[in-house]
Amino acid sequence: MMEALDRLLAEARAELGAAADRAAVEAVRVKVLGKKGSLSGLLAGLRDLAPEERKAFGARANQAKAEIEGLIASRLTAVERSALEAELGRERLDVTLPGRRVAPTGHRHPVVQTLDDIVEIFARMGFEVVRGPEIELDYYNFEALNQPPGHPARDMQDTFYVDAEPLGDRQPASPVLLRSHTSPVQIRTMLRQPPPVRIVSPGRVYRRDDDPTHSPTFHQIEALYVDKRVSMGDLKWTIEQFVQAFFGKTFRIRLRPSFFPFVQPGAEVDMTCTLCGGKGCRTCKGTGFIEVLGAGMVHPQVLRNVGYDPEEVSGFAFGLGVDRFAMLRYGLDDLRQFFANDLRFLESF
Ligand code: PHE
Repeated sequence: MMEALDRLLAEARAELGAAADRAAVEAVRVKVLGKKGSLSGLLAGLRDLAPEERKAFGARANQAKAEIEGLIASRLTAVERSALEAELGRERLDVTLPGRRVAPTGHRHPVVQTLDDIVEIFARMGFEVVRGPEIELDYYNFEALNQPPGHPARDMQDTFYVDAEPLGDRQPASPVLLRSHTSPVQIRTMLRQPPPVRIVSPGRVYRRDDDPTHSPTFHQIEALYVDKRVSMGDLKWTIEQFVQAFFGKTFRIRLRPSFFPFVQPGAEVDMTCTLCGGKGCRTCKGTGFIEVLGAGMVHPQVLRNVGYDPEEVSGFAFGLGVDRFAMLRYGLDDLRQFFANDLRFLESF
């Protein structure tokens, strides 16, 4: 019987060594170790043996079984690895083929990128970001800002009016229009809270304008700072800090006296033309400067309109042309390119 066991073991070794795939290995396992396999057959003869022979044979049989199980496991690993290698060998991988194009993901519009960057700079300086509606009441856009109906300054900011007739008897308290600037957010904010106020308000505005540096829709960022003893010096310093942060270097700033009904005094702020470096070009109309924002000290009447006491607090405000800053940043000479929806243009940012 010992010889039969040795033979069985030798056969199993040889057959496993020749088994070329998973199925062949499995067949050997069933044939040798299965319930009706050759090993079980041998073991059935145990009961005919004398007790001490039985013990010796049992031990050998267990050894043989363990060896065969080990051989099966390692053979399985081997045939599986070579199957995988064969598969990989069949598959021709051309690593020089260009990749499959991923669907275009798009990105923020260059004006929006600029707007986000500007807002971030002011947020770092401690300004809170607030938003106001684009469809606005005449009251906030003009009247509370010292421009009653018929005021000549309204001409410069002629805008688009919204027909409220369909609202029937739910007529708004004042005419409805597309806001011509972000300044109404000054009023809305001050009506909501007592001083101090330190906000920026970005967004889209509308006017009846259309030329290389004006588009019927454009973007502004309003800034408002009201507190005790705020001065024109604070205004100029804040703008200089912003320009430095935005362009990464210092540019000359120039304040020209100007008129806005809601500030006193008022100024237009010009900056060195970044396209020509101040020498004079088409964009700056030969002046070397480009107008980038309107500014001033909040008019005492505006403070009174929102219930603030002009004897107690003062403030500065400015409205910054985001699209102008985008033009300067990217060196463009026609603002309207931003809104022409030409993807070849927009994708270059
Ligand atoms: N709202 C003004 C404009 O759009 C700019 C401005 C804002 C001027 C705040 C002064 C103070 O022209």
